[in-house]
Amino acid sequence: MAVSAPQQNVVGDAVASLAYEALEISKSFGGAKALDGVSVDFRPGEIHTLVGENGAGKSTLLRVMSGIYERDGGELRLGGESLERLTPREAQHRGIYLVPQEPTLMPHLSALENLFVGIIPRGRLPFTVDWKRMRESAGDYFAQLGLAIDPRQRAETLSIAQQQQLECARALVHNCSVIFFDEPTSPLTAHEAEMLFALMRRLRERNFTLGFISHRLDEVLELSDRITVLRDARVVATMDAADASRELLVNEMVGHQVTIQRRHARAAQSDDVALSVQQLQREGEFHNISFEVHRGEVLGLAGLVGSGRTEIAETIFGLRHAEAGRITLEGHQLVRHSPRSCIDRGLIYLSEDRGRNGIFADVQLPENVSSAIVPRLPRLRGLLNRRVEQRLAGEAMERTQVRALRRDVPIRSLSGGNQQKALFARWLLAEPKVAIFDEPTRGVDVGAKADIYALIDGLARDGVAIIVISSELEELTWICDRVIAVYEGHVTGELSGEQITVAALGRLIVEEGGA
Ligand SMILES: Nc1ncnc2c1ncn2[C@@H]1O[C@H](COP(=O)(O)OP(=O)(O)OP(=O)(O)O)[C@@H](O)[C@H]1O
Ligand SMILES: [Mg+2]
Repeated sequence: MAVSAPQQNVVGDAVASLAYEALEISKSFGGAKALDGVSVDFRPGEIHTLVGENGAGKSTLLRVMSGIYERDGGELRLGGESLERLTPREAQHRGIYLVPQEPTLMPHLSALENLFVGIIPRGRLPFTVDWKRMRESAGDYFAQLGLAIDPRQRAETLSIAQQQQLECARALVHNCSVIFFDEPTSPLTAHEAEMLFALMRRLRERNFTLGFISHRLDEVLELSDRITVLRDARVVATMDAADASRELLVNEMVGHQVTIQRRHARAAQSDDVALSVQQLQREGEFHNISFEVHRGEVLGLAGLVGSGRTEIAETIFGLRHAEAGRITLEGHQLVRHSPRSCIDRGLIYLSEDRGRNGIFADVQLPENVSSAIVPRLPRLRGLLNRRVEQRLAGEAMERTQVRALRRDVPIRSLSGGNQQKALFARWLLAEPKVAIFDEPTRGVDVGAKADIYALIDGLARDGVAIIVISSELEELTWICDRVIAVYEGHVTGELSGEQITVAALGRLIVEEGGA
């Protein structure tokens, strides 16, 4: 496993960072409160983490504190100084940076250009750019985060995890000393998350003021100095991490305990092959990929960021085209297939990248949910029956417990975890025969996670063949009957039933053959 040594030149001397306090902040959207008198203080040399259910107000608070949203009331105090109107520009000028929950890169620019947007170093001659210096320092930041990409690569070709890592690198490049990380780890595997944490710890040693959001409570407990729990727009507790436990946090967040149990292997598994993939290949992405999924089976696909797991899924769903190999769905070979033709045949794909392959950001929530089944909805003289559409979408959103302040809003205004639940609802409505779920619980809170596992289990019991791709190895141990591991575009091994453990999976995804 190639892990680069930390490089001193990037995270060097201590900085003179400032405490940043939010006092009694309130913020409403269309009359509904997203923040209701919230006070949280972030101190230098400390990692202070916000936890809470989807929609609790975590991102809204950090957006207010970084000038993206204007607050309705309350005060922001940086190093004792009260900040009046705060714009994103003013925030950055004062050294405050937010790594957003959803990456906001410019798709057509290179990774390098994205990294330096707004602060491109000048060359020695007027109107020139110091590309060499940019490339060198980019290489340092990328190495620290374990981001193995070519800086010249266009941002649109990066996976969601790579985009997220690039956003983190950007925080450093901008030379800010108050840095907020809004769920940076949700698309990362434990290995990549560890690299980010190592970096955050070095920043803490250097006296940076750090804020963090995550739904993965184990990492929250491991990394944080203090933890604040938000619930329904209010702070319900702030505590030292040393005094916190998983049970305590869950109780404060949800109000009761949540236990997630391993899925029971069903006695008689079907021999019917629902999807078969034979010797699939795309140069530079994956080679000789062969596997089958049976009706009623949950097959996991494990691998590091960049291992090819998402590329394989996108190829099956017709978003990319294979150079060689064969895909057979319920006995029919898929030839020159598109996402549309896949959906019509009962194959669906929940993408890891909501922004790119998932939501129609500006379309209303119910229409987003019903979008996959529009051709199947009842019509009267060619016109869509909107009432049926709304009812079906509403029922599906009940099943996945989508929470929004209102339903008649564009989906982009939902909290991250609720967008994910809405997408899940969409694919339930499509009544798939084969479902590929790429990071099905990305950004979803502990309670809703258990619900999504139950939904996946229910689908499998109804005979749906399911492929789950996940960065969280623990998730795979809970829900899969069988897992295949991918490393650098090759299948490195397969585990089934009781063999599926975090340790065994961990070995398979980082080393060829899992030595
Ligand atoms: N721009 C907006 N327009 C309308 N409502 C919004 C907007 N931004 C946030 N909200 C609402 O405010 C509430 C809090 O959302 P927020 O994104 O802060 O939640 P969160 O705690 O970050 O959740 P998650 O864990 O899902 O990311 C949600 O109900 C959300 O729908
Ligand atoms: Mg959020």
